[in-house]
Amino acid sequence: MSEAALTRLGILISGTGSNLQQFIDACACGELAATIALVISNNPEAEGLQRASRGGLTTTCINHREYESREAFDQALVDTLRMHEVDIVILAGFMRILTPVLIRPYLGRMLNIHPSLLPKYPGLHTHQRALAAGDTEAGATVHFVTQELDGGPPVLQARIPVLSGDTAGRLATRVSKMEHIIYPLATRWLVAGRLVLVNEGACLDGEPLPPSGVSYSEGLV
Ligand code: GAR
Repeated sequence: MSEAALTRLGILISGTGSNLQQFIDACACGELAATIALVISNNPEAEGLQRASRGGLTTTCINHREYESREAFDQALVDTLRMHEVDIVILAGFMRILTPVLIRPYLGRMLNIHPSLLPKYPGLHTHQRALAAGDTEAGATVHFVTQELDGGPPVLQARIPVLSGDTAGRLATRVSKMEHIIYPLATRWLVAGRLVLVNEGACLDGEPLPPSGVSYSEGLV
């Protein structure tokens, strides 16, 4: 497919960028029919910025500390995403609370990944909280972004068992591996027009998804 015909992704990061790396790889090998138009970090030190540069991508840092309000910061994000003609926004470890200034224009075109089985444990320290609660399962969820923090309709969820002797760090490592599978997959559905947000609910191939989204299993396409 010619570069011009490809869906343009804007990927927002704050840290390591291991999810970003999956998108770089998936776009490079054609598994995802999209191009990464731009990587934005709010954190000038984000390791993900180096990954993006190594991948030959356009990067920019929009430092939230330089804005007087969340709204002003979000407006700068929107202006930059528009300038780069971004179609779909991918939040990949973007650790900022968003306002309607950013959410509204990209409603139905913005996904997030969260390291818990939403609606359990929105916010921070998800693995510690799962362990403290004695949960037998942990996981990650890809969801549409709406006004509610980590609360938009789930699209795809990967579950893993909590093992005896698990620490938050060990759990994070195993959950992260699942994130790397489910995030590009759910994005492929959105890019292909198979996944849509209708009346605040996620639909795949014309069918409304269950409240926790599709449950990931091997072989899912
Ligand atoms: C991921 O585990 C992602 O689920 C989490 O940040 C990490 C980013 O890792 N996101 C959130 O907690 C959002 N609420 P990465 O920078 O290596 O992709």
